[in-house]
Amino acid sequence: MPTVPVLDAGAVLAAVDPPRAIERVRLAFERFAAGEWVMPAKVYVDAPPNGDFRAMPARGGGFAVLKWVTSFPGNSSRGLPVVTGALLLSDSETGELRAFMDCAQVTSLRTGAAAALSAQVLAAPGARSVGIIGCGVNGAWSARCLAAAGYGPGICTDARPEAAEALAAELGWATGDRVEAAAEDVVVTVTPGGEPVVLESDVRGGQHIAALGADAKGKTEVELAALRHCRLFCDEWEQASAGGELSDAVAKGTVTRQYVTELGDVMAGRAHGRGSDDEITLFDSTGLAIQDLGIAIAVYEAWREGRLEAGMATL
Ligand SMILES: NC(=O)c1ccc[n+]([C@@H]2O[C@H](COP(=O)([O-])OP(=O)(O)OC[C@H]3O[C@@H](n4cnc5c(N)ncnc54)[C@H](O)[C@@H]3O)[C@@H](O)[C@H]2O)c1
Repeated sequence: MPTVPVLDAGAVLAAVDPPRAIERVRLAFERFAAGEWVMPAKVYVDAPPNGDFRAMPARGGGFAVLKWVTSFPGNSSRGLPVVTGALLLSDSETGELRAFMDCAQVTSLRTGAAAALSAQVLAAPGARSVGIIGCGVNGAWSARCLAAAGYGPGICTDARPEAAEALAAELGWATGDRVEAAAEDVVVTVTPGGEPVVLESDVRGGQHIAALGADAKGKTEVELAALRHCRLFCDEWEQASAGGELSDAVAKGTVTRQYVTELGDVMAGRAHGRGSDDEITLFDSTGLAIQDLGIAIAVYEAWREGRLEAGMATL
C-alpha cells in the first residue's frame, strides 16, 4: 500500500512563493514548447446550472499529474470556493503515487504566475502599471505575481468593492472603477466571465491584456470588437479555441488558428511576440495542466528536502 504525503494549502504556500511560481511556470511552458512535457487538453464535466468539473493530466520532469478541479462561479455568494479539488502527483518512471495535494492553491499560484509570465514575454518594454478587474482569489494572486515580477502600482476593481480594497491595501495599490483599471499598461481580467469587462472603447495602443477568467465555453470578458484591435496569443490553441476567451470569436469564424500564437512558441523563439511598442497584445489563458505540474513538482521537492511538514496517508 503506498504511503504518501498529504500537502495542504499551507504546505503549497510555504513551498512556492510568487517568484518561484513564475520560474516554475516559465519552465513548464518552455518544456512543453520543446515537446519534453506532454498534456492532452483538459476534459470538462458540466454540472449545470452552477459550474463544471475539469480533469487535467500532464507528464514531464519525471512525474505525472492529475488535477481534479472545479469552477463554480456563483459559489462566492454561497460562501464557498469557486475553485476546489485535489491533485495527484505520480512518478512517471514507475507509476507510483508520490503525493496528494491541495489543488486550489496550486491553481492560484500557477494562474497568477501565467499572468505575470505573459506580461514578461509580451508587454511593451516600458509597461509597468497594472489594472486588475476581478480581485477574488485568482485576481489577487495575479496581482501578487505581477508585483513580484516588478509590475505596478496598479488599480484594483471588483463588483465587490471590499475585495478591491483589500487587495489594494495589501499591495499598496489603489482602487478605481472598471474604466480606470482597463486603461492601465497591463490589464488582467479575472471575473467569472459573465459579461465583457474590457470594451472596444477601453483599449489603447501599447497595452497588454491577460484574459484569465473565461476558461470554459460560454464565458467572456473582452468585447468581441476589442479583439479586432489586439494581436492574439493563447496558452494552448486546442483549449483556448474550445473554451477560452477566443472561443466565441473562433465559433463565429472571426478568429482562426493562423491569427493566434501560443505563448510557448514565442518563448522558444519559433514565433514573433509583440511586433511594436504600439501593438495591443492579448493573452488568452485557459490554465494548463503543465502549469500545475510545474508547481506540484516544486511543492513535492520542498517536502522531500524536509522543508515542509505534512501528514501521511496510506491508500
Ligand atoms: N485561466 C485560468 O488559468 C484560471 C484559473 C483559475 C480560475 N479561472 C477562472 O477565473 C474566474 C475567477 O475565479 P476566482 O477563483 O478568482 O473567483 P472569485 O469568485 O474568487 O473571484 C471573482 C471576482 O470577480 C468579481 N466580479 C464578478 N463580476 C465582476 C465584474 N463584472 N466586474 C468586476 N468584478 C467582477 C467577483 O466579485 C469576485 O471578487 C473563474 O471564471 C474561474 O473559472 C481561470
